[in-house]
Amino acid sequence: MVGQWFVRSLEDHPWFELEVLAASERSAGGIYGDLVRWNVDGSMPAAIRNKPVLPMDPAIFSDHGVRLLFSALPADRALAWERPLAEKGFRIFSNASANRMEPDVPILIPEVNAGHICLIEAQRSKKDSGGYIITNANCTTTGLVIALKPLQDRFGLHNVIVSTYQALSGAGYPGVPSMDISANVIPYIEKEDEKVDNETRKILGTVAGKGPVQPAPFDVVASCCRVAVRYGHLETVVAQLEKDFDERAAMSAFSDFRCHACAKLPTAPRQPIILREEPDRPQPRLDCDAGAPDRARGMSVSVGRVKKFGDRLRFYLLSHNTVRGAAGASILNAEYARTLGYL
Ligand SMILES: NC(=O)c1ccc[n+]([C@@H]2O[C@H](COP(=O)([O-])OP(=O)(O)OC[C@H]3O[C@@H](n4cnc5c(N)ncnc54)[C@H](OP(=O)(O)O)[C@@H]3O)[C@@H](O)[C@H]2O)c1
Repeated sequence: MVGQWFVRSLEDHPWFELEVLAASERSAGGIYGDLVRWNVDGSMPAAIRNKPVLPMDPAIFSDHGVRLLFSALPADRALAWERPLAEKGFRIFSNASANRMEPDVPILIPEVNAGHICLIEAQRSKKDSGGYIITNANCTTTGLVIALKPLQDRFGLHNVIVSTYQALSGAGYPGVPSMDISANVIPYIEKEDEKVDNETRKILGTVAGKGPVQPAPFDVVASCCRVAVRYGHLETVVAQLEKDFDERAAMSAFSDFRCHACAKLPTAPRQPIILREEPDRPQPRLDCDAGAPDRARGMSVSVGRVKKFGDRLRFYLLSHNTVRGAAGASILNAEYARTLGYL
């Protein structure tokens, strides 16, 4: 699922060229266009249709002159492969959860914690191959931390409660059986509540030198559900803020939020957060693709239904799980690393 979004997002990328595709032994040796059941809006890019799918073999990647790898491996495979590949000098931008909580691995979101990229110096000092792993967050955490960041900066965060309505594509392809999800909501996604808590506190934490990160000192209580939506994770957030605030100031914090580290990155949205003032937005079908320019479609987080309840702020957010929460996030991280000379 995420691999398809990489293929789509790397088509005509101004800085990166998709040179090799690799998958499991089941697929290796086949042709991409024959193997993939294309599930992304629009057609499969013509230049990729006839590409061979290769086995996971670092020697083959090197023969092709490849140094940058985007990983959309299942977590157990990522655990086995990513560290050894980094030690061989590959720059890995990973979607998998396997290495996210490692002390020397950043969960990077340039809009939120650009400075955490310094953690890769700790990886590089162990081996001098030049390789490293940079992860992006879980698809649910990503939208959440982007929305929390301006609140943390302006008002401070005391604690956060989040309930989610997560799209089917978040479970990969073919994902949840149709008999389980049709006319239903499943109030359980394995390990998701814990990931949202741990990752949020790491991403919003502080780092000095080569780390590790000092996690943010607040609680995140997450309750995650799967719903019968194709793309887009909707989340209801109740955040208790440290400073006194009014509703308008909170709304401005969202809509004024900008990313200075992202100014020249092709996949960065001009506005990381789009504030919706209609009473019934954001919605997955209407707001999933939010973000401009064209290359950043799906990279903005939509926030709406902002309301103050005493010292708590309630709002809804929506983010595209396979773009903002996966392939687009990795590509943005690689763009950011490139501007710092890390590629
Ligand atoms: N879906 C999302 O919204 C989302 C968001 C954020 C992060 N993630 C994470 O991203 C990763 C990929 O998720 P997905 O949704 O794309 O899953 P998916 O649809 O199940 O795809 C998994 C991919 O990994 C390949 N693979 C499996 N075993 C392999 C092996 N031994 N060696 C090499 N390749 C192997 C598969 O190749 P074959 O085609 O040959 O089986 C397939 O291409 C997961 O770690 C997931 O947690 C997903």
